[in-house]
Amino acid sequence: MGIRIAVLASGRGSNLVAIMHSIAEGKIDGEIAVVLSDKEEAKALEHAKNAGIAAYHVNPKAYDTKEAYEKELLRIIGEADCQLICLAGYMRILSPYFISQAHCPVMNIHPALLPAFPGLHGQRQALEYGAKVAGCTVHFVDEGMDSGAIILQKVVPVLDNDTEDTLSARILEQEHKAYSEAIQLFAQGRLEVCGRIVKVKGE
Ligand code: GRF
Repeated sequence: MGIRIAVLASGRGSNLVAIMHSIAEGKIDGEIAVVLSDKEEAKALEHAKNAGIAAYHVNPKAYDTKEAYEKELLRIIGEADCQLICLAGYMRILSPYFISQAHCPVMNIHPALLPAFPGLHGQRQALEYGAKVAGCTVHFVDEGMDSGAIILQKVVPVLDNDTEDTLSARILEQEHKAYSEAIQLFAQGRLEVCGRIVKVKGE
């Protein structure tokens, strides 16, 4: 049957769709149990609903505090009986409260080779810095900003004539592969976490 996954997304949801495809192709032993978004207009919610997945807009403005908002997210995730929470373009920083109260690990995908270029616009940062390679990182989420233990990374070249758009597109292609691979390693129980170091069993 596999693991039950909750996805948090704020935008277009291409990583969500890639995960849905991997599940359909049997590349992930699991299912998406619920998709949550802080943005009502998020395409990710539409993608999920079209696929018959439970999808909810949880409006942060409807709660007095960030903790109250996150408590509601955790309630829904708990009710959906999820074993993994995946951030896929979720544009809010989770508070230490969420991380400490989550009943399962939280993963994120970042469009840069961490620890270089954390935060917003990782692709633009790499380009402006003059990096010759860029890429993406799937990592566990801790209380810092893009600072959790790294699960896997994929590298792409930065070309002389790259714009932010062309580089982002090259990275995105790798993001879609990387996220599914990382989730499947987790689903297979092959991720061994020792402090900052994540080892893949059987590799
Ligand atoms: C991706 O570039 C991801 O790395 C970053 O936000 C973007 C989300 O894209 N965290 P999408 O919504 O999955 O298409």
